Amino acid sequence: MHVAEPQFAFLCGLLKRRTGVCIDGTKHYLVTARLLPIVRQRRLPSIETLLDRVRSGDDPSLERDVLCAMMTHETSFFRDQAPFEALRRVIAELAVSRTRERSLVIWSAACSTGQEPYSIAMVLHEHFRDLVAAWKIRILATDFSDVVLARAREGVFSGLEIARGVPPHLLQKYFRQLQGRWSVTHEIRQLVEFRQLNLNADWPAWPPCDIVFLRNVMLYFDPLTRTALVAKVRRVLRPDGALFLGGAETLIGVSDDWERVADGGSCHYRPRPR
Ligand SMILES: C[S@@+](CC[C@H](N)C(=O)[O-])C[C@H]1O[C@@H](n2cnc3c(N)ncnc32)[C@H](O)[C@@H]1O
Repeated sequence: MHVAEPQFAFLCGLLKRRTGVCIDGTKHYLVTARLLPIVRQRRLPSIETLLDRVRSGDDPSLERDVLCAMMTHETSFFRDQAPFEALRRVIAELAVSRTRERSLVIWSAACSTGQEPYSIAMVLHEHFRDLVAAWKIRILATDFSDVVLARAREGVFSGLEIARGVPPHLLQKYFRQLQGRWSVTHEIRQLVEFRQLNLNADWPAWPPCDIVFLRNVMLYFDPLTRTALVAKVRRVLRPDGALFLGGAETLIGVSDDWERVADGGSCHYRPRPR
């Protein structure tokens, strides 16, 4: 279905301005598929009416619903696997360099429904039990969308979501069956703090981070937005910290302020000394 041009252009502009997410002029099918459920739920006559209502600005919750619906929340446990093996090596190094402070901050910066931060928590529990017991460890998990954050906080996953990445020995240890679904155990859940945060707006005061996962979100942004975002990430990442991107993402052409570290089947980035 084709969305009328003025409303389509309004949506593209709003999405880009508020969130950084870009959609091109060919994505009418995407807009239709994502917005029709809201149109039906609110009993509106058309997508154009929905977007006119958003433009009128008298229902801010409608704007949020539309922006969240336009985002792609695809994720899985231990996505791409290799970065989580590299994460283990990076934490092992930090376990030595942070012995005086005995604290670690890891940020999952576009956490979607929570599989990424819970995977990080499982890596910590499996391989760094002493640190978990004795250090102050925080996994901050943020996303633009309140809808995915509510699901993430709940920490309950379908069999299909579990099958996408959770190995049987971790399923047995860190999940409990709950009416045909799987709930993460308290020890994993308590390590993760979920918060709403728009990467494309001013951030609240943010703690210095040792590791940042900024995976599979920059690919939706244009080059200028990517450059501005990694500059902000650099300000919160400690000088010896590590930045992980998605498998299809790179800092080539985005920023020269980072060194690429190849590690097994994956890579991460370190801030280049100034
Ligand atoms: C494809 S998911 C990636 C999830 C996870 N990082 C992974 O790699 O599996 C992208 C997430 O980025 C979030 N997102 C998009 N734009 C954002 C923004 N401006 N601020 C914060 N989160 C955003 C979306 O809501 C979505 O949940």
